[in-house]
Amino acid sequence: MTPIVANSQPGEAAPAPGDPVAFELPYFDAILARLELSPESPLSRALQRHVHWGFFSSPDTADDSLAGYVVAAEAMTERVCAAGRVRSGLRILDVGCGFGGTIAHLNEHLSGCKLVGLNIDERQLARARQSVHAGSGNAVTFVQGDACALPFGDGEFDVVMAVECIFHFPSRRRFFKEARRVLRTGGTLVVSDFVVDSEKVDEMTDWTEAHADAQSNFYGVKSAALVSGTYARLARGNHFSELADEDITAATMPTYPGLKNLLSDAGLTDGVKATAYLEELSRMGFFQYRILSFEAEGA
Ligand SMILES: C[S@@+](CC[C@H](N)C(=O)[O-])C[C@H]1O[C@@H](n2cnc3c(N)ncnc32)[C@H](O)[C@@H]1O
Repeated sequence: MTPIVANSQPGEAAPAPGDPVAFELPYFDAILARLELSPESPLSRALQRHVHWGFFSSPDTADDSLAGYVVAAEAMTERVCAAGRVRSGLRILDVGCGFGGTIAHLNEHLSGCKLVGLNIDERQLARARQSVHAGSGNAVTFVQGDACALPFGDGEFDVVMAVECIFHFPSRRRFFKEARRVLRTGGTLVVSDFVVDSEKVDEMTDWTEAHADAQSNFYGVKSAALVSGTYARLARGNHFSELADEDITAATMPTYPGLKNLLSDAGLTDGVKATAYLEELSRMGFFQYRILSFEAEGA
């Protein structure tokens, strides 16, 4: 992973909905294999619903137990949903939906919603369809597709969510454009992402160059991290106004020891290396874990 600011250039070709898009997600290959072969292993139990960092409300006293991780992952979902202004009766699209954990959470807490999970990876969607069953008058669908070429009509949704997945998309700019298109005016876009502290770019560049050996492609990140402040420009350029931008790094830090243990127990040494690298970037204040929300403005 390198600290580059922009990840898409004007004039780049946009894919059409239905175009096959290549993706490389080494960690999902590993998680899917473990879920298949050892569904009761700690790693499988930790990641079968949510595949994202935890929100630990008391980070100083948090332990690295599996139970603590599962609770914190659900708390993170709750936090992102609140920033997305979700409520009953809305049409909600969860882009990069993993195994459907966020859709499951919404389905359990809201009623009368149209809930759509989209993922590039059909293998994850197959698991989501098996585990999430619509309740409380909700309609639940899981759709295969690319975040940068959403297979939906204009203004079809009230809320678009992208929980800890935007760094995988081929272009954040194209995703923002697509999110604006499928949202009604006044609707909400919420994303969670690792953002580089603009004050520390030079220091971070030196550090990453000096620690090049500590990197690993386990997480298959496609788009380099944005520097703080860039999201505001990205939003303005795509007819969004900023609602909130919350730095929750401190509350995510206990994720690292727990996740490294789980990966280590599962024999995923490359995963331990990649997670330790991210932990260091966060501990040194280079990476901030942020939840950002935006309102769709009229064109
Ligand atoms: C860290 S996981 C997060 C999963 C889920 N949002 C959660 O919180 O549990 C990243 C997700 O992004 C998905 N993804 C990666 N590239 C994508 C793309 N171009 N379009 C849609 N989904 C994508 C992956 O398949 C994976 O499910």
